[in-house]
Amino acid sequence: MKTTNHPLNIPPLGFGTLIADPALTVAATTNALQAGFRHFDSAERYRNEREVGIALKEGIAAGIAREDLFVTTKLWNTNHRPERVAPAFEASLERLQLDYLDLYLVHTPFAFQPGDDQDPRDENGNVIYDGSVTLLDTWRAMEKLVDSGKSRAIGLSDVGLKELLPIYEAARIKPAVVQVEAHPYLPETELLEFCKENNIVFLAFAPLGHGIKPGPLEDPVVLEISRRIGKTPAQVLLAWAVQRGTALLTTPKTMERARENFDISPLPEDAFEAINRIKSRQRFNNVVNTGVPGFIARKTGQK
Ligand SMILES: NC(=O)c1ccc[n+]([C@@H]2O[C@H](COP(=O)([O-])OP(=O)(O)OC[C@H]3O[C@@H](n4cnc5c(N)ncnc54)[C@H](OP(=O)(O)O)[C@@H]3O)[C@@H](O)[C@H]2O)c1
Repeated sequence: MKTTNHPLNIPPLGFGTLIADPALTVAATTNALQAGFRHFDSAERYRNEREVGIALKEGIAAGIAREDLFVTTKLWNTNHRPERVAPAFEASLERLQLDYLDLYLVHTPFAFQPGDDQDPRDENGNVIYDGSVTLLDTWRAMEKLVDSGKSRAIGLSDVGLKELLPIYEAARIKPAVVQVEAHPYLPETELLEFCKENNIVFLAFAPLGHGIKPGPLEDPVVLEISRRIGKTPAQVLLAWAVQRGTALLTTPKTMERARENFDISPLPEDAFEAINRIKSRQRFNNVVNTGVPGFIARKTGQK
């Protein structure tokens, strides 16, 4: 389950770096490397690419080959204008201390007012969007990063089929990955089928429902399987995600959890099917509706 049969050679088990504390980012990323993770997801918006870069550089110095790592980062909403894409990419690369990326994603399909403020708001506290740029304009600039060889692949995040299809059809370089929230309460089956048919990696974030309880981690079906097969609820959920053909991102913060989340094995077929039959439906992250991430502290300290 830990080696890939996905296009791009993307390792199915990915470590996400949406961690507010800089020191914890270095420690958790280092733990993840030591536990065996080789796929790392970061973002300009997480404001910790430098810390991720420090941990990756130490891992490489300790003998992990760069080619064995799969590193992603993401273009933030304030950099959608085509002339801002390459500079934003280069700045991320510099912070990560890398000379190429395996994957660069458009973080959300929403363009915000360009500028240094990642969270531009009007006097009423409403997000200021940028109506002068389309997602396809941004995509054309993303394609040039693949042409330059600096990003091996490009993709989209926080999109549904409605946003993906027009880009997929118009693209010279097709999206290689789509990163969206997915777990048993939000299986996104139609999008997954489209991705499988078109050789796109479906990369699930929040495979544990962001750890929110009640949620998939406490679902009775998951708990019963966990007891029956002697795996933790998190391991059951991560195995289900890989078994249905997605890659995933998880964010264990301690060494113990990094080892736990990396130690998954295939579910018995009846357990896999039982999870597929779970009827609860819940989205835990509203970023798809507004482009505003639900889990990053704003300047005011608000979530
Ligand atoms: N594209 C986007 O818009 C977007 C949005 C959100 C996230 N992401 C990416 O996806 C990554 C994954 O984030 P996520 O929140 O979805 O990660 P996750 O691993 O599914 O959930 C993290 C939460 O689960 C808990 N947890 C982790 N391992 C556990 C275990 N073994 N048992 C019980 N609880 C466990 C953590 O608790 P503790 O905090 O107590 O450790 C944390 O609260 C992010 O880091 C980021 O890279 C992308």
